[in-house]
Amino acid sequence: MPVYVVLVGPPGAGKGTQAQAISAKLGLPHISSGDIFRENLKLQTELGQQAAAYMNRGELVPDDLTIAMIQERLSRPDCAPGALLDGFPRTPAQAEALNEMLGKFNGSVNAVPYINVPEAVLVERLTGRWTCRAAGHVYHEKFNPPQALGVCDVDGSELYQREDDKAETVTRRIRVYLEQTAPLIAYYQAAGVLMEVDGTQPIEQVTVDLLAAIAKATE
Ligand code: AP5
Repeated sequence: MPVYVVLVGPPGAGKGTQAQAISAKLGLPHISSGDIFRENLKLQTELGQQAAAYMNRGELVPDDLTIAMIQERLSRPDCAPGALLDGFPRTPAQAEALNEMLGKFNGSVNAVPYINVPEAVLVERLTGRWTCRAAGHVYHEKFNPPQALGVCDVDGSELYQREDDKAETVTRRIRVYLEQTAPLIAYYQAAGVLMEVDGTQPIEQVTVDLLAAIAKATE
């Protein structure tokens, strides 16, 4: 049976950082809806251009576009063992759509780690974030600096600051998260798959806690 893990948490909680650390260990591909939108934008596809308008305002891309994109991604052969989802679902309608698509793959959501970080910490994390152009590796100028300024440790590509990491857009993204995504915490708690992890700890300790929680949920 495939295994599906859904990382939930506010913008800047560390979902991408942790997904990069645990995906190989779990043997599951890391599927980030934000990364797929950014990749589409880089390639100037129609989806990328449609999504960019919403992303740059700090709003959610409409459900129909997002659901179709994830359904296509999850149906690729590398997702046969399951997937580690980061940034999807983000609305109750997306959560329902995910249940429906996983049913077609004879699977269901097995574990939903909720990386809990208070709002006050998120703005500093996002405005100090640097992301690699080639593959989206994530750094922070203070909390997780690269070895050489502006250069990715992993692939040597240039680091840049995301358009939506400007302070005013970050504030909007946090508000959108509280209004539209936070209700998923109660949704997955009711389904018995939610597990809370303290995301204010050092990155390596969050990884340890996440792996332990996922192992318990999927044993
Ligand atoms: P997306 O790319 O998914 O952004 P997000 O959810 O807002 O999450 P972030 O990538 O900002 O944060 P993260 O939790 O991954 O944190 P990270 O590990 O980078 O989405 C972007 C946009 O795309 C959305 O606004 C929306 O428009 C659209 N979109 C995407 N999915 C969608 C969907 N399903 N439906 C509709 N629209 C969608 O860490 C942040 C920083 O903190 C880094 O600098 C990192 O080094 C640092 N850090 C991480 N952990 C720690 C730690 N423990 N201690 C100290 N620093 C840390």
